[in-house]
Amino acid sequence: MVDAAGPHPATLRRVLGHYPSGVTVVTAVSDGVPVGFACQSFHSLSLDPPMILVLPARGSTTWPKIRQTGLFCVNILAQEQADLCQAFAVSGGEKFRGVDWRLSDRGSPIIAGASAWIDCDLVGEHDGGDHTIAVGLVMGLESDESRAPLIFHRGTFHTLERV
Ligand SMILES: Cc1cc2nc3c(=O)[nH]c(=O)nc-3n(C[C@H](O)[C@H](O)[C@H](O)COP(=O)(O)O)c2cc1C
Repeated sequence: MVDAAGPHPATLRRVLGHYPSGVTVVTAVSDGVPVGFACQSFHSLSLDPPMILVLPARGSTTWPKIRQTGLFCVNILAQEQADLCQAFAVSGGEKFRGVDWRLSDRGSPIIAGASAWIDCDLVGEHDGGDHTIAVGLVMGLESDESRAPLIFHRGTFHTLERV
């Protein structure tokens, strides 16, 4: 049931949480420092031209730094990376401490052990309410076929089992 004021945020979160997804860490290098944040809202958008979407919250302190670089890398996390995901889901601190990473050709961090990464140029931003719809043009990408993805569903992490 939805009253005139619309759904309660907790209801929205609970119901939408029934839609399972993978989890990513979106990264860039800002003033020589690697930055990133955990981001479930990642979507494929276009094959030609190759484009993807990420949806940073308006309150994200990391996204403005990434925006400034005009570049970002989407790291699709593997099932072993739930702790790493949590580390990137906090505001502030040195999130990359203890994280093994390297630079992509365009200069954004690729996190070791990720199941795939997609290196992007930021080509557009659109209003998405309390989030921003950020469009990335894919400039490079790679996947590790040996790794299973980390799944986020109803507020907790899961692993994928083939049915
Ligand atoms: C599983 C999971 C999924 C998340 N998905 C998103 C998301 O899609 N967009 C977003 O802005 N924040 C998302 N967050 C929250 C951010 O990671 C968190 O608010 C952010 O790291 C805050 O740090 P910042 O201020 O450095 O940006 C998610 C967190 C978790 C644990």
